[in-house]
Amino acid sequence: MSHNVVYLDYQATTPVDQRVLDAMLPFLTQQYANPSSPHQPGRRAASALRAARRQVKTSLGAEHDTEIVFTSGATEANHLAILGTATASPRPDADHIITTPIEHQSVLATCDHLSRAGYSVTTVPVDHHGRVNPADVAVAITPHTVLVSVMYANNEIGTIQPIADIAAITRRHNVLLHTDAAQAIGALDIDVNRLGVDLLTISAHKIYGPKGIGALYIRRGTPLRPQYAGSQEHGFRAGTINLPGTIALAEALRILATEREHETPRIAQLRDSLADRLLAALPHAHINGSPEHRLPGNLSLTIPGIDAADLIDALPDLAISNGSACASGHAKPSHVLAAIGLPDSDARATIRLSLGRETRESDIEHAAHRIGSSVATTPPPG
Ligand SMILES: Cc1ncc(COP(=O)(O)O)c(C=O)c1O
Repeated sequence: MSHNVVYLDYQATTPVDQRVLDAMLPFLTQQYANPSSPHQPGRRAASALRAARRQVKTSLGAEHDTEIVFTSGATEANHLAILGTATASPRPDADHIITTPIEHQSVLATCDHLSRAGYSVTTVPVDHHGRVNPADVAVAITPHTVLVSVMYANNEIGTIQPIADIAAITRRHNVLLHTDAAQAIGALDIDVNRLGVDLLTISAHKIYGPKGIGALYIRRGTPLRPQYAGSQEHGFRAGTINLPGTIALAEALRILATEREHETPRIAQLRDSLADRLLAALPHAHINGSPEHRLPGNLSLTIPGIDAADLIDALPDLAISNGSACASGHAKPSHVLAAIGLPDSDARATIRLSLGRETRESDIEHAAHRIGSSVATTPPPG
C-alpha cells in the first residue's frame, strides 16, 4: 500500500503478515514437491501438509485432522458446505435449506442455484441490527430441512450471530448447521464444539494470509458430496493442494491465537474513537449493526444526503468501502443494508471503515478529519 494512503478496508482483505510470508516462501521456491508424490521431497511436503492441517484443526478446536478440508477460499468452502450437504443427504425428502438475507453472495448464489434446481429455501429475517432470532430458525425448520446456513459475523455491518443458540435448535431437530466464519475468525476465539456447528468456513486473506486459500471444517460423519470428485482432501476435494497456501493459513491462525486477545480490545478502542470523531463532525450520521454484538474492527456509517461512491472518489488518500468489496462496483445498493431496513437512499449514503493490525491512532485522526471536512464541503447529490 502506498505510504500516502490510510488503509481502512481490512474486511475486504488484509496484508500478508511477514511471518506468514516467511513460513510459506520456502514451499514456493525450495520445498515445492507435490505432497502426493512418492519420493523423499514429496513425503516431506506431505508431512508439512499434515502439520498445517493439524494446526488448523487445533485452532478451530476440531477433533480429527480429516475434518479439515483445504479449499481455494471461503467462497469455495461455502459452495462445498451447501451443495455438498444438500445433495448428499441420505433422506430423499431432505430438500429444504434455511439461510438469512445478509449472507455473503457466495452463500446466497449457491442457495439460489439450489432453489432453481427444485430445492426450497427459507430466508429467516434479521432485525434492524442484522441479528437473527434463533426462535425464527426453530419455526422455519420442517421435516424436509437438511441444512441451516447462518454466517457468524457479517462483512458489511459486523453483526455477530448467536450461533451456539441456533446450534442448540438444529441439533434438537437433527438438522445440519453451517456457519461462514470468514469475518469472525480474526476477532473471535472459535471452537467448533463449543459452537456446536457441523460445518464452518474460513479464509486466509481476512486474517493476514494470502488470497486463494481457505478451509471448510466438516464434522466427522456429516454426509457431504464432493463437488470435484477425486482422491485429495480425504475424497472431499480434487486437485493438487496449494501447499504454500495451507502453510500460510496455518501460520496465520497460529499468530491469531497469540495476538487476538490483545489486538481485539486495541482495535475496538480505535474503532470507537473513530466513531466518536465522525459522529461529532457529522451529528446526523448513524452507525449500522448491533451495538453489543459487533466485530471490533467494523464501522458501517450512514451519512444521510451523501453519495458514498462520490465520497470515496473524493478521498484518494483513504481506502474505505461502500457496502462489501465483493458487491461494490455494482450499482445496486447492498442487500445487507436493505435487509436491516435502510431505504435505498441511506444505503447509497453508507460507508464501511474496517480497522486491522496496522491501524494506528494517527490513521483514525486523519480519516475522521478527511471524511468530516469532505462531507462538509460537498454539496448533497442531485
Ligand atoms: C463473510 C464472507 N464470506 C465469504 C467471503 C469470500 O471469501 P474468499 O475471498 O476467500 O472466497 C468473504 C469475502 O469477502 C466474506 O466476507
